[in-house]
Amino acid sequence: MRKVITYGTFDLFHIGHLNILRRARELGDHLTVAVSTDEFNRIKGKVCTYPYEDRAEIVRAVKYVDEVIPENGWEQKVGDIKARGIDVFVMGDDWLGKFDFLKEYCEVVYLPRTEGVSTTIIRNRIKE
Ligand code: CTP
Repeated sequence: MRKVITYGTFDLFHIGHLNILRRARELGDHLTVAVSTDEFNRIKGKVCTYPYEDRAEIVRAVKYVDEVIPENGWEQKVGDIKARGIDVFVMGDDWLGKFDFLKEYCEVVYLPRTEGVSTTIIRNRIKE
């Protein structure tokens, strides 16, 4: 069993989110997604349209996702990887190099982002 994990906010769920979850799941047999909590977003200065419970529920309903956990802070990744026996850590390439320190614990893969879409782009388009 090859276990994969990825992290994100997943607000205003869009095709870029779906693509990264599909490609992450293709790298293994089980995908855990850590969805950032509203408290953690506040620390990051990120304001979400949907609350954590809704974002987590939407991600949980995606057929490529086996399990959703809360992401409460920057420091939990090593603990998650060890406790869950994770083999592959996946992030979009907007984070390229930022999580190389995790290579001590598992494989680290940066996947190319889907071009032309993001939560911020959608939010700005609606505002216009
Ligand atoms: N992602 C992606 N392609 C996109 C947008 C996001 O592959 N077009 C990936 C990110 O790289 C990340 C995951 O989806 O690994 C969750 O990203 P998140 O930050 O929640 O979404 P964004 O749309 O990037 O949100 P924002 O505009 O607030 O940065």
